[in-house]
Amino acid sequence: MKLFLDTGNIKDIETYCAIGIIDGVTTNPSLMAKEPGDPRAITKRICQIVQGPVSAEVIATDVDGMIREGKDLATIDPHVVIKVPFGKAGVQACKALRAEGIRVNVTLVFSPTQALLAAKVGATYVSPFVGRLDDIATDGMELIRQIVDVYENYDFETEVLVASVRSPMHVAIAGQMGADICTCPPAVIEAMFKHPLTDSGIERFLKDWDDAKGAKA
Ligand code: E4P
Repeated sequence: MKLFLDTGNIKDIETYCAIGIIDGVTTNPSLMAKEPGDPRAITKRICQIVQGPVSAEVIATDVDGMIREGKDLATIDPHVVIKVPFGKAGVQACKALRAEGIRVNVTLVFSPTQALLAAKVGATYVSPFVGRLDDIATDGMELIRQIVDVYENYDFETEVLVASVRSPMHVAIAGQMGADICTCPPAVIEAMFKHPLTDSGIERFLKDWDDAKGAKA
């Protein structure tokens, strides 16, 4: 399973890319609004660091505007993937952008039928938001199972990009379900590294070594 970072923060992207575990980045207008500086320059810098797909979202809400903005964002760097919100306009814009060879991530997907429509117009990625479903007492991961099942029945090339990830459990279940990608906030990646038995295990190894070898010295 590929791991993307869900952030526009350059420092976090540098940190986790340096470890070698990050395959791409997703941003959205809310995430980019938090970062000081020119969004185009930030997007370019992210692409240079990641050297993999970087989703940049359009602000336009109409088809022509999404296509225009998408084409413009795609000139920033070959790694840019255009993120469009699901809807009639987003789906139509996806089809047009794909016809020009531009990769598209259809975002804000909350049902298997929305995912099916995105796949039908050749979306490169579909982004179901699991955390936001959990927030309204609906099982977000069940949506992933449904989308993976639907896609498996056909020859769609669209990859399932699990979004709105809130904990390592989302990542573990997504892996069990065969989702292609999880995009995680830095805090979730950080939590994936942690286990108290790893920490206490290292502590004990070092203490045993010190007790034995230190005593002989
Ligand atoms: C995905 O591409 C979105 O940027 C993101 O996962 C949304 O997550 P949130 O629901 O935590 O805002």
